[in-house]
Amino acid sequence: IKKVTTHVLSEMKLKGEKIAMLTAYDYSIAKLVDQAGIDVILVGDSASNVMAGNETTLPITLNQMIYHGSSVVKAVNRAHVVVDLPFGSYQGNSKEALSSAIRIMKETHADSVKMEGGEEVIESVKRILCAGIPVMGHLGLMPQSIHKYGTYTVRAKQDEEASKLLADAKLLEEAGCYAIVLEKIPASLAAKVAAEVKIPVIGIGAGSDVDGQVLVVHDMLGITQEFSPRFLRRYHNLGAEIIGAVGNYVNDVKAVDFPNEREQY
Ligand code: KIV
Ligand code: NA
Repeated sequence: IKKVTTHVLSEMKLKGEKIAMLTAYDYSIAKLVDQAGIDVILVGDSASNVMAGNETTLPITLNQMIYHGSSVVKAVNRAHVVVDLPFGSYQGNSKEALSSAIRIMKETHADSVKMEGGEEVIESVKRILCAGIPVMGHLGLMPQSIHKYGTYTVRAKQDEEASKLLADAKLLEEAGCYAIVLEKIPASLAAKVAAEVKIPVIGIGAGSDVDGQVLVVHDMLGITQEFSPRFLRRYHNLGAEIIGAVGNYVNDVKAVDFPNEREQY
């Protein structure tokens, strides 16, 4: 099996082959997602919501991201594995950003790191890139800045925010990022960014005119049930299946139907 490198991803953009990306936070799910042929696995800080039950991504720590990242890497043979730098581990201090990125690379054996922001974090981006660590950017809706914006609604609908986003994308490309995630922005703006930068642009709620798509795996499988933004397509209702299976188990235990003679020693 040929490992998906940053070089492979840039070739996919050149060839017009779309990049399929999903999150994973643990060994078992990562193994299945990799087997299914996903190109990129994101160990997202959405683990804060999905795994830990927090309201936002802010509480998750670098140590927790490293725990998730190393679990995922052990399961993966083919996909490119990118780990989110969590809130507080890179903003405002590029030396700290570099040491956070180095810890992720050394302790998880992931392939790259991702961080939110453009011009505000460009020093950190450059410093990490200088160490030979590939960086994926993330613009548009940036959940680590939720307290600055106040809501999770569509971003960059106004001209001013749209031109800043385009400028930030170009800045990240110039700095040497290998790809950029665009979250929850108008499809027309995302298409424009994807056309104007040479690096792959991966969208989530950013329309189809980009170089790839990413979703949170628990959302697209229907494990999470409350969260249903317009951009989410549910490929399964695993939540209902799990509730059904667990319900059957509960009934069997109560009825002393489980275990039967063949299921004991
Ligand atoms: O943490 C995450 O899951 C993400 C994706 C939504 C892009 O950053
Ligand atoms: Na994230």
